[in-house]
Amino acid sequence: MAITVQPNENAAGAVVTDVDLAALDDGTWAEVYGAFLTHGVLVFPGQHLDEEAQGAFARRFGNVEKLYPGQDRATLHFGNVKADGKLTRPGDESFKLLRGNEGWHTDSTYMPLAAKASMLMALVVPAEGGGTEFADMRAAYDALDRAMQEKLEGLSAYHSLYHSQARAGFAHNTDHMYGFHDKGAPLRPVIKTHPETGRKSLYTGRHAYRIEGMDPDASLALLDGLMDDACQPPRTYLHAWTVGDLAVWDNRCMMHRAQPYDTSQPRVLRASRVAGEPESELAPTFADPKADAFRPTSSNESALTAGKSPKEPDVYA
Ligand SMILES: [Fe+2]
Repeated sequence: MAITVQPNENAAGAVVTDVDLAALDDGTWAEVYGAFLTHGVLVFPGQHLDEEAQGAFARRFGNVEKLYPGQDRATLHFGNVKADGKLTRPGDESFKLLRGNEGWHTDSTYMPLAAKASMLMALVVPAEGGGTEFADMRAAYDALDRAMQEKLEGLSAYHSLYHSQARAGFAHNTDHMYGFHDKGAPLRPVIKTHPETGRKSLYTGRHAYRIEGMDPDASLALLDGLMDDACQPPRTYLHAWTVGDLAVWDNRCMMHRAQPYDTSQPRVLRASRVAGEPESELAPTFADPKADAFRPTSSNESALTAGKSPKEPDVYA
């Protein structure tokens, strides 16, 4: 039976039903992937996948991006509940990232190799808030006037998690968590052409902090203005999670952000991040003034030494 893809009304993305992601044959996978490319974000209600099934679904999209040294699974727990069962509190490193993630972004643009896709499945949800909101940057590009499209064509911006977190009010040390590295700030095009669909999109978000060749303040003003205009209805979609829902989105053309919630309540999702193809998602890096050092590399792999026991953090940017 064919899957049912219902585009969200006056909003981005689509809801997919009549599919069991734990038992996906190749024909059905092709339909799902086609819908993913068309709609940018897909929500699959009530899937309740176990780790293995979610991992297998994530690997359909490509290679898994490893977010901590020694990661051997395709899935990670993501949320405000720590390994000891206690809730993350203000001042914790992970709390800073949770707050930062409430700004519009696309995943891993601050790494040499940006992410292709990201996936979340809801395990524990708060009574109110804590949704995930998406914005379609293809539609945002299409909505720009011709003069602005021409102005942006050919511009590139530096991306850095230190900078986005600093703007959110948080400082971080080099190399203590994924993203806070000495690999340099990737320089990425402001207008991205999707490697599979060929569609153009606005590709900036909170990690983009300076446009090459432009005054820093003027850069930020331009970048902020673009995102303010871009992330508006009908290009957005806020998904209010129900336990068991799974969402997957295309980081190459969609922005997302976390909706605030009462952090005295637990919120746990199971995440998977799929690495970009180097042909289209690998960017050159340049010294990041907020990092302790600059050791350029095209690898996302953590420089954390094996001597420090690798541990899975609760939260990632
Ligand atoms: Fe994210």
